[in-house]
Amino acid sequence: MGRPPCPSPAKAGEGTLTTHIADEGHNLPPLLRSGGGTGRGLGNDRLLSLHGVSKTFDNGVTALAGLDLDIYEGETLSLLGPSGCGKSTVLRLIAGLTRPSVGAITWADPQVRKNLGVVFQDPTLLPWAGVFDNVYLPLRLAGQSRASAEPRVMEALSRVGLADFAQALPRQLSGGMKMRCAIARALVTEPALILMDEPFAALDEVTRFKLNDDLVALKKDLGATIVFVTHSIFESAFLSTRIVIMSKPRGRIVEEIEVDPALVRNADFRTSETFAEISRRVSRALRKATGEAA
Ligand SMILES: Nc1ncnc2c1ncn2[C@@H]1O[C@H](COP(=O)(O)OP(=O)(O)OP(=O)(O)O)[C@@H](O)[C@H]1O
Ligand SMILES: [Mg+2]
Repeated sequence: MGRPPCPSPAKAGEGTLTTHIADEGHNLPPLLRSGGGTGRGLGNDRLLSLHGVSKTFDNGVTALAGLDLDIYEGETLSLLGPSGCGKSTVLRLIAGLTRPSVGAITWADPQVRKNLGVVFQDPTLLPWAGVFDNVYLPLRLAGQSRASAEPRVMEALSRVGLADFAQALPRQLSGGMKMRCAIARALVTEPALILMDEPFAALDEVTRFKLNDDLVALKKDLGATIVFVTHSIFESAFLSTRIVIMSKPRGRIVEEIEVDPALVRNADFRTSETFAEISRRVSRALRKATGEAA
């Protein structure tokens, strides 16, 4: 799929951090990045751009106003911010589930847009269908026969550790397993871009850590770009190569924190000074964003 190569690994705890703070009252212009940070991804190719995007719903609520955001190939970008600041709206706009009221979203490669992986907080599995059939669904909708899809479905299930549960029904799975199934369904079409909206928010912390580890491994294997919405400072610090902190009203970007993509995200990283520093910065930015919302 022409994905960028993996970066050379750096030791846990070593790496670079770059913080961009938006000017008061303005979004940080996407091309005016100072400091030469490397965190926005493994490549510098823009996958898509939101240009001056505003979204006002039918009830008159303006969720976003004049949002500029570039998403780069290979990055894991987290969106953080107080409830109602517009994070899900950004994902829904990118997914094409809703359209901008003003502004535009441009795609470097329109094919990427046609094959997105989307994972929401609720795994939304078909309760009457087994794990295999739930994961097969996107391929079935694309007209692929069950027999010809089987290797891809089984590969996706193997990637998330569910190969032995292909025939199980969703009600026979734990919350974490259901989410793995939803992730397998998102991966089965081999998307270049995966959109995840608080996918692990309903899970206990141990399961969440495990799924965070698994997502890092999947990301390494697949090289897909990930846009990840979360309320968790630690999750964003662990996963991201760039963290964008948004604030109310109208989804203003208050800060961007870039993290060296070459950092190895493993158990040592979770206890490293770099991880603590990223978490501190995110926490500070979030306090600022929340304070501004008050
Ligand atoms: N379909 C809709 N119709 C009307 N208003 C909406 C709709 N979807 C979202 N909104 C409003 O837009 C704003 C942003 O909502 P959004 O769901 O994007 O926030 P969020 O940052 O994802 O919040 P949370 O962290 O609670 O999930 C909120 O004020 C919300 O009430
Ligand atoms: Mg949301």
